Amino acid sequence: MMKENIVNAINHQIKLEEESSRLYLAMASWADANGFPGTAAFLYEHSDEERMHQFKFIKYVNERGAQALCAALEEPANEYKDLQDIFEQIYDHEQMITRSINAIYDLAFAEKDFNTCQFLQWFIMEQDEEEALFGGILDKLNLIGGAKGNLYHFDNYLAGEAAAEATAEE
Ligand code: FEO
Repeated sequence: MMKENIVNAINHQIKLEEESSRLYLAMASWADANGFPGTAAFLYEHSDEERMHQFKFIKYVNERGAQALCAALEEPANEYKDLQDIFEQIYDHEQMITRSINAIYDLAFAEKDFNTCQFLQWFIMEQDEEEALFGGILDKLNLIGGAKGNLYHFDNYLAGEAAAEATAEE
């Protein structure tokens, strides 16, 4: 049986993953409505990934004999200045998610809940990948600047990334 403080911490993470999914969904919708179909496809895909993260946590808690909960969610922003604004927010958001997962790991280690430590290893690696992915996208955006032609190519690049991710999941 898991300790209550660990169940509470993971239930909070379940809320954060669902909020991440909705945040990326809102961003994808903004991109869709504002002429960036490649960015939209990439972010729709990423929204699905966050839903999968949420589900992984839910299954883990229930398999350990506790109950995963669905919480009330914060409303995500629906308006963004530009693509730079979106990817800066995502990069900050992912760093916050990393800190949150690391804090659960710390707690699980202190409580000698080594199953949870082992379960969290996957997420620790995943956060490494996500920070590198979004940091790299932000670097590209900073490099190309805001000219429309450059943003058109950037959007095509993200369309390719979305297609590659979808293929990898098949
Ligand atoms: Fe579930 Fe992007 O962290």
